[in-house]
Order: sequence, then structure tokens, then C-alpha cells
Amino acid sequence: MNRLLPTSPRYLRLGVNIDHVATIRNARGGDHPDPVRAALAAAKAGADGITAHLREDRRHISDRDIERLRQEVDLPLNLEMAAADEMLEIALRHLPHAACIVPEKREELTTEGGLDARGLHNQLAPIVSRLRDAGIRVSLFIEADPAQLDAAVALGAPVVELHTGAYCDATGARQQHELARIREAAAYAAQLGLECHAGHGLGFDTVAPVAEIENIVELNIGHFLIGEAIFGGLDSTIKRMRALMDNARAEAAGDRSA
Ligand code: PXP
Repeated sequence: MNRLLPTSPRYLRLGVNIDHVATIRNARGGDHPDPVRAALAAAKAGADGITAHLREDRRHISDRDIERLRQEVDLPLNLEMAAADEMLEIALRHLPHAACIVPEKREELTTEGGLDARGLHNQLAPIVSRLRDAGIRVSLFIEADPAQLDAAVALGAPVVELHTGAYCDATGARQQHELARIREAAAYAAQLGLECHAGHGLGFDTVAPVAEIENIVELNIGHFLIGEAIFGGLDSTIKRMRALMDNARAEAAGDRSA
């Protein structure tokens, strides 16, 4: 097993998204299962950060969860948020390590596509700058599209997260095409001086080819990990994901230096 140390420049960070622990809790309206407990377990299992999406409709993570994640969990918090005044105010109050701006529609089951960073420049610009002024690392969740990367630069966002949903949903040649788009976008992000993350839909079967992309430094994974934890337990599910990421990363680097 190839283990990379977090201090290695090639290390790939894993942000564990705990939204769906809250989804299950909310199905019964009580306190169990507790997403903060899941975040603590994720930290022990090797997560590098915790990601949580406070949606406008509060379908999973609640305001109180965000407060407790900041108080009780000693890992960087990446707050996923819509570009809305309400969320900006919450982010400025809790000062998470990072904020990832995502598109949000009430009727969607999950974040369906990337943010239109180009078309929404005027709406996003003040939000990006206020988050940055507060010392929060801002990322934009976008499609693997060079025009969106240029738009991220124009907005002064230091980080982008590439949407991997289309890659994960596809098969065969289509999947390879989507992967190539992600690879090319990650290389372009590096050229532009943007830090590049990726996420959405990743699981044991799809993570390795994305982890091999050297310009990507962080993956954010939620639904698969929480679902798979029902069968394997959260600790071993996260450890297995970590190992798949580390292995893919180390093998890709080995190939390059061979
Ligand atoms: N990254 C972003 C920006 C997201 O909105 C989500 C879903 O909340 C994820 C990553 C994680 O996606 P999944 O739950 O499918 O792993």
C-alpha cells in the first residue's frame, strides 16, 4: 500500500461531506445520527477536512450543526453555500476555514451542475470579496470548462472545485471523455494559479482516475461514503477511500518518474 504523508507536495486531501448523516437524522426529526459525531469519526479515520452544505431549505445540515461543527471539531470546515445574503451572513458569523459557492435550486435532489461563474459575475463578485476579506478561503464549484476557470480568476477566487458528477454518471468512452475534460481543466487551473479541487458522485469505483490527476489537491466526497458506511462502518469506509486515493496518487507519480 502506498501511503503519502500529508506533508508531501503530492498529498491529496479528503474532505468528508457529512450532509447525509443529517438527512437520516432529519427523517425522524430527533438527534440521531449526529453529524458532529460523524465528523469526529471522520477525523479519526483520516479525513483532512469536513464539508457541509447549509441549504436554504435546511433539508439536511442545520444552523446549529454548523455552530457545533465549528465548536467541537478540530478539522478545517468547508461550508458549501449558495450565493445568497443569508448564507454570506452565516459564513461571516462562523468563519469556516473555507466556503465553496455552489448553485442551488430548491427542487433539485442534489447540486446538479456547476455554478455559472461567468454569467453571475456581478452577483458573485461582492460575495467572493467579502468572504475573502474575512479570511475565508473561497472556492467556486464549476464545470470543467476553461471559460468558467477564467471567470473564477476574474472574480478573484483562489480555488475552484470541478464538478465530477458527469464523469461519475457516465460509462465507457463518454466517461473517458469527461475524465479528459477534468484533467485538462485541472491543468488549466494550475496555469492560471488556481488551487484545484474536485467532487460530486465519487465512490470506490470512480475515485482513482480523478485522484491520479496531479493538479487536483482536494476531493470532497459525501453521499457514497455515508451510504457505504451502512455496510462497512464509517471508519473503514473512509480508510478505504483514503487508501484508494493515496495508492492512485503514488502510482501516478511513480509512472511519471519511471
Ligand atoms: N462538492 C460539492 C461542491 C458538493 O455540492 C457536493 C454535494 O453536496 C459534493 C462535493 C459531494 O458530492 P457527493 O455527496 O455526491 O459525494
